[in-house]
Amino acid sequence: MNSPQNDLLITNARLATMNSVDGDPLGVLDDGAMVISDGLITWIGAAPNAPFMDNRLDAEGAWITPGLIDCHSHVVYGGNRAGEFAMRLEGAGYEEIARAGGGIVSTVSATRAASEDDLLKQALPRVDALMASGVTTLEIKSGYGLNAETECRMLDVARKIGRERQINVSTTFLGAHALPPEFTGQEDAYIDLVISDMLPAAVDAGLVDAVDAFCEGIAFSPAQVRRVFEAARDLGLPVKLHAEQLSDLKGTVMAADFGALSVDHLEYVAQDGVDAMAASGSVAVILPGAFYYLHETQKPPIQALRDAGVSMAVATDANPGSSPVFSILSAMNMACVLFDMTTTETLVGATINGAHALGMYDRGRLATGMRADLACWHVGDVAELSYAMGATPLAWSMVGGAMVNA
Ligand code: NIG
Ligand code: FE
Repeated sequence: MNSPQNDLLITNARLATMNSVDGDPLGVLDDGAMVISDGLITWIGAAPNAPFMDNRLDAEGAWITPGLIDCHSHVVYGGNRAGEFAMRLEGAGYEEIARAGGGIVSTVSATRAASEDDLLKQALPRVDALMASGVTTLEIKSGYGLNAETECRMLDVARKIGRERQINVSTTFLGAHALPPEFTGQEDAYIDLVISDMLPAAVDAGLVDAVDAFCEGIAFSPAQVRRVFEAARDLGLPVKLHAEQLSDLKGTVMAADFGALSVDHLEYVAQDGVDAMAASGSVAVILPGAFYYLHETQKPPIQALRDAGVSMAVATDANPGSSPVFSILSAMNMACVLFDMTTTETLVGATINGAHALGMYDRGRLATGMRADLACWHVGDVAELSYAMGATPLAWSMVGGAMVNA
């Protein structure tokens, strides 16, 4: 691992600062420079005004953005679901497979059977792919353990990833992701276990930054999720929710009531949910990978979210079932092509709004005092980040002022 640079002057860069100026959300500084010290940006401005420094890095005219933020992922899991992918292509539906004991529950069996080392070994290449797409902060959820021991093992692996790689990891407890087979027909009893055993165990082990749940017909009702959120609130933890992905259960309205950091998916959200998010300031996390893989046709109401002034983030939802997508740039591209988001909206969505979806206000834009988490790109214009699929335009990235090893 590289150590943080001190008094480093980065010159000859085109900066997309993401500080909205005069209606331009990109806040472009064409001939920009930055000073990095103690892991932070300590000066930023026009190159001719930059202080003199011996230690310099020439960006050679390339673009620099804040390091990208993937605010919704499930990269720690055992096995994969390529077999289920093939079944879906032969006509089986995602919900049908889930109800027949496949889907999330099949990943639960593989995850329970995997050791901590196995889980780490399987997750690292996924994380490396995300890092190669410019990600410097990655949220990782539990949710394939569905018992205290395995949920904690998953979160422990997530935290280890942050030590094994130069990436910031934020951990989210997703115990209420699916009903484990041993609780068939006993949803409320499982929620009791989540509240009384699983969540406290993960919190006691210091492994939880936020609490999430899956509110859906194949998962949990708003009333059940509400109980989990009350427990989170009692523990002082922020909440977020997978909601209205396959139907409109009004989970969004309930989550907004709790001041959720974000509500994610949202394909079926109605105007009441949009209005509730606008009032609560929750970020709408748009996940086009799951829409794409599940051949969905109902799109999230992007225009209604815009009109209501709801901030939108874009994330990979990287997971073995509904979104085996391991590039934030691919997710940005899909959000443009499938949902007609603009290339600027997707970049805002993978930087400042992604940060806010995680309750982080020290990153996601380039300004004095912000973390020195940067991505430098070989592109002629930052629109290209959302334009190509499968391209690898990252020149270098930096986390907390330290260059990331390629
Ligand atoms: O975000 N929606 C629920 N959870 C995941 C899917 C997980 C899976 O299919 O394994 C998601 O899409
Ligand atoms: Fe998800």
